[in-house]
Amino acid sequence: MLGSSPEHDGAPHDSPSRAMLGNRRLRLRNPALSASRSILLIIGGGIAAYKCLELIRRLKDRGIVTRAILTKAGEEFVTPLSVGTLCGERCFTDLFSLTDEADIGHIALSRSTDLLVVAPATADLIAKMATGLANDLASTALLATDKRVLIAPAMNPRMWQHPATRRNMAQLEKDGVLVVGPNSGAMAERGENGPGRMAEPAEILAAIELALAGEATAQQRAIGFLGRLPGGAANPPGALAGRHVLVTSGPTHEAIDPVRYIANRSSGKQGHAIAAAAAAAGARVTLVSGPVALPDPAGVETVHVESAREMLAAVEAALPATIAVFTAAVADWRVADEAPEKMKKDGSALPPLALVENPDILATIAHLQSGRPDLVVGFAAETENVVAYAQAKLARKGCDLIVANDVGGTGVMGGDANTVHLVTSDGVESWPTLAKREVATRLVAHIARLAAARAGA
Ligand code: C5P
Repeated sequence: MLGSSPEHDGAPHDSPSRAMLGNRRLRLRNPALSASRSILLIIGGGIAAYKCLELIRRLKDRGIVTRAILTKAGEEFVTPLSVGTLCGERCFTDLFSLTDEADIGHIALSRSTDLLVVAPATADLIAKMATGLANDLASTALLATDKRVLIAPAMNPRMWQHPATRRNMAQLEKDGVLVVGPNSGAMAERGENGPGRMAEPAEILAAIELALAGEATAQQRAIGFLGRLPGGAANPPGALAGRHVLVTSGPTHEAIDPVRYIANRSSGKQGHAIAAAAAAAGARVTLVSGPVALPDPAGVETVHVESAREMLAAVEAALPATIAVFTAAVADWRVADEAPEKMKKDGSALPPLALVENPDILATIAHLQSGRPDLVVGFAAETENVVAYAQAKLARKGCDLIVANDVGGTGVMGGDANTVHLVTSDGVESWPTLAKREVATRLVAHIARLAAARAGA
């Protein structure tokens, strides 16, 4: 049974779709950011420990030097040899090792680094950190350090929700510890589901890069840490507290037959960033995502769909919402008669591909007679007459705000930057070219103000 060792929390396993995502490469931010940066990775005892091997590989790709401490319980899941091999130097395990102390003492180990990262941060390690226990190398390094600490919690949902863990987490947040995850989902234990899955390596890497750059994670911003951390544009914490925000993101795939589909170049980066920024502003967020190679944003309920019709159904099921942001690049058309079997090249006629129009999700929700969100926001990806087309779209679709962007040959689709114009019936506000994450943060602040004005707040 899982959970027998002191810090063995029965942490979650990967779902098949997650594993698939792990195989795709994610484009990450400015490589210069991580030049000559180093972390001390403390690997706790949970099933999610295996994800640290992938994390170390990704850290190496980004030029972040990684030293690792493996706890006794961690050794039940990954070996010092595999960790050490990936790090390119010996993995530390023992507090009372004369060799290690002669080599690099535990105090020096915890200070000769830029950031300490605990992953998986088990309930046991979190409890030790919250109370200042130091009875092994990991907890001693954590108590002895003068550097910032980022934790990626991973445990069974009941353990995560237990009042003791809640108290310990509150203490760590007070102490300025940075947190990434956990995500919600299936656990290693059969039938167990809920918050407790460790954040994915890509999410932990993103949080490490933010921490190394002196910024807070989205979650940190949500709970108002910016006062204590330097840098990082952010929304006032809680600007969307108590609101349910619905976001669509990514492309849709419209099946031609069981193996072929019609798609577009949308990466989902902008929509996912908006969902994360809304969560950071305190909203409960439902993200309805088409097929993308991005991890689910932490703290966001993500529903995965393929087609436009599935996306509409998921959006309708997620209502009511106070605010709906339709960022997805929904396919305008689908194949009229999806073939039940793979279509064959028979050497004669080309297959006739008749198309029919997909439901317009944005227009459907914006025109709802009852249950319409207070604020409905659409996007308009155009290659010419960007603002004029967006103004026409605003009226036609019945939404309150259109975020128009020029996608003509600028690498916006799939890229990391965006130049947007905010079009309402009152006029147009044009923003400079910004990182999609920054567009998301500003847009959420803008939307929060509009929603507050509408509610008469
Ligand atoms: O008509 P067009 O595709 O340019 O409209 C873009 C906006 O409408 C985006 O907000 C997109 O998410 C939304 N949309 C939709 N359902 C469709 C087509 C577009 O929600 N079938």
